[in-house]
Amino acid sequence: MIAEIAQSNKIVVEKSTVPVRAAESIMHILRANQKPGIHYDILSNPEFLAEGTAINDLLNADRVLIGGEETPEGHQAVEKLSWIYEHWIPKQHILTTNTWSSELSKLAANAFLAQRISSINSLSAVCEATGADVSEVARAVGLDSRIGSKFLQASVGFGGSCFQKDILNLIYICENLNLPEVAAYWQQVIDMNDYQKRRFSQKIIESLFNTVSDKRIAILGFAFKKNTGDTRETAAITVCQTLLEEGAKLDIYDPKVEPEQIIDDLTHPTVTESPENVKKAVQIHSDPYSAVRATHALVICTEWDEFVDLDFKRIYQSMMKPAYIFDGRKILDHERLQQIGFHVQTIGKKYQRAGLLRSWGIVPQL
Ligand code: UDX
Repeated sequence: MIAEIAQSNKIVVEKSTVPVRAAESIMHILRANQKPGIHYDILSNPEFLAEGTAINDLLNADRVLIGGEETPEGHQAVEKLSWIYEHWIPKQHILTTNTWSSELSKLAANAFLAQRISSINSLSAVCEATGADVSEVARAVGLDSRIGSKFLQASVGFGGSCFQKDILNLIYICENLNLPEVAAYWQQVIDMNDYQKRRFSQKIIESLFNTVSDKRIAILGFAFKKNTGDTRETAAITVCQTLLEEGAKLDIYDPKVEPEQIIDDLTHPTVTESPENVKKAVQIHSDPYSAVRATHALVICTEWDEFVDLDFKRIYQSMMKPAYIFDGRKILDHERLQQIGFHVQTIGKKYQRAGLLRSWGIVPQL
């Protein structure tokens, strides 16, 4: 389309990531359709915005990356795009590289971020088995300034449209370049994430006496993270899928995700072979208190701020007993929940059962 319309020389800026050398592919297509006398420069300018913080990420970007061809025209094109960003980004934060470096850096940044989450999630399993607390471990590790504290929040697993896709892109590139060891290394980041999602789902089933058949379970949060209605690759899908396969009835509440989206996700052919049964077993609520009523367990899948401030005494009273909470995001005050009477399970920390606390003299206050 660009080649058809262009009447003069153009700089084409490519911001997405695809599992080929994107800028090079665009260049080939443009040059194949090139009109005489018109010159194209292709730049790679990867996007680092995160959902929910996009405007801030754009205004206060840690860095801007511009990759271009190593020719005089390529350098000129890079300078032009750089000039636009210099209106609000300090020049020392604008990195100019060759095209390949720029495209690979984007994949590498997302792979590193996801790898940190898989690393801390792998340790969360060790914590649960040993009595260590993954939050304490993350804090101790993160205070090393060489490591840093960000992206060390253990969770039910990372989701979103980027991490998995970009790591799979990286793996695909490595396989094509005949680098199977490198491909296998990054594959582990995804495998660990799948393991974490499965492990959390299994923990729910085991805690509920190894069966959830016909038990009602409330799912609070369906988006892949807070402050977005996006459900792509959300860990909630795996949790719900596992519980549904085991015969549970789900009551789902998310403040931003549309009910149709939740049903679409859970009835997708990759998730179930019997969409009609799923529809019968799932109820979507517009209020968290109605979602938890008469359920056996409450599962937190997204770290929405509003979940922290819920009236948990009221919730406890309205649930079946024994009442379970599975906090997949580590956002709730677990000691207080135990005092109310809940059985609490979370990621990366093993809790004593409420009954044990009582025998130590802490009386649940209702
Ligand atoms: C990500 C990158 O951060 C961004 O730079 C890139 O441009 C697009 O991909 P996004 O997918 O919007 O952005 O979300 P992000 O905030 O990175 O979170 C991704 C997933 O990791 C979420 O499911 C989040 O809950 C999870 N996460 C994040 C953790 O489980 N633990 C953490 O410590 C951080």
